[in-house]
Amino acid sequence: MMTMYYTLGRSGLRVSRLALGTMTFGTEWGWGADKETARALVDAYLEAGGNLFDTADLYTGGTAETWLGEFIAERGLRDKAVIATKFTYNAEPGNPNAGGNGRKTIIRAVEGSLKRLGTDYIDLYILHTWDRLTPPEEVMRTLDDLVRAGKIRHVGLSNVPAWYASRAQAVAEHRGYEPVSALQLEYSLAERNIEHEFVPFGTRHGAGIMVWSPLASGLLSGKYRSGADGKASGRLETMRGSTNPGFQKFNDRNWEIVAELEKVADQIGRSMAQVAVNWAATSPGIASVIIGATKLDQLKNNLGALDFDIPADLRARLDTVSKPVTPFPYSFFGAEIQGGITGGLAVGDKPLGYTPDLLMQGSFAGVS
Ligand SMILES: NC(=O)c1ccc[n+]([C@@H]2O[C@H](COP(=O)([O-])OP(=O)(O)OC[C@H]3O[C@@H](n4cnc5c(N)ncnc54)[C@H](OP(=O)(O)O)[C@@H]3O)[C@@H](O)[C@H]2O)c1
Repeated sequence: MMTMYYTLGRSGLRVSRLALGTMTFGTEWGWGADKETARALVDAYLEAGGNLFDTADLYTGGTAETWLGEFIAERGLRDKAVIATKFTYNAEPGNPNAGGNGRKTIIRAVEGSLKRLGTDYIDLYILHTWDRLTPPEEVMRTLDDLVRAGKIRHVGLSNVPAWYASRAQAVAEHRGYEPVSALQLEYSLAERNIEHEFVPFGTRHGAGIMVWSPLASGLLSGKYRSGADGKASGRLETMRGSTNPGFQKFNDRNWEIVAELEKVADQIGRSMAQVAVNWAATSPGIASVIIGATKLDQLKNNLGALDFDIPADLRARLDTVSKPVTPFPYSFFGAEIQGGITGGLAVGDKPLGYTPDLLMQGSFAGVS
């Protein structure tokens, strides 16, 4: 049961630690849920105290947004629900301005999302993926205009390089635009690369990290195993052979992580999925974890992910097996090189990110 809500990034928007993802709402992509199941997922999530829903215009060709809007309207919860949706992807082949992050696209996209969601405002409007072309000045000015027009409340970025996010935040600060309150990024025991840049950036510059694919698309539930007899039905099996990097999870490194996660989960007496979601949610700098499900029992299980603590020795085992490689220039930020900068003294920094302990001490606002 989620009874604590936290402000997202440096904004005043209160969100639950677990968000509900809607990428599985609709069967168009071959691995989603039907409407009755999706409705039941929303009910279970609300019952557990969740208030943050994540969707995108891309998902299931618009079905996810449409159903989410309907479910929220049926329950009369528009003011209570926090709706995040995204733009960037092109739904009209042959029209280059029906996708990307330019002003023309954003303004078209927001109108489409508002219509499908059946609402007159979006709480958090997120650039879905860097288009490699549009300058951050154009994106941030357009999003600021949408805030002033009352169509969106807050701004987020997903799947962008850290330098781009940093530049966008600097532009917003210096020009008085609505700042970036959220960064939506892939993060799990199987994908920890955001730790190099995004965690320090987000925590220092006011952007709360919303994690996507905390189970690495289902891998960390433990249902898939290496070898021919390790197949299980689910998204990763359906998408086997896909060139989408988000679905390429079957490799030796990940099988080692799955094996260690299984042992740790057994020792704690929790499911592997719960331990994996808990690990992500309690990692430094993580504001919110977007959980996804195709079945009600999966969601109910995952909603119990915050009801326990991972003991420090077991967490250390998970950290070790999943440790990402440290490429240049990050290799210059460890003790060997930094010792030559500090003159051999211990020089501390502000804590990196907010942990539950810091939250309890009031370093970051929390309301119950
Ligand atoms: N910004 C972005 O680019 C981006 C990208 C991806 C996702 N997202 C957002 O993040 C949300 C969550 O992402 P995700 O769906 O990839 O998260 P995930 O937690 O990594 O994967 C969820 C999937 O794992 C399987 N699963 C979940 N719980 C399970 C359990 N207890 N036991 C066994 N299998 C379980 C289900 O798939 P099967 O039943 O098919 O196995 C479920 O759909 C999405 O809905 C979306 O809102 C954003």
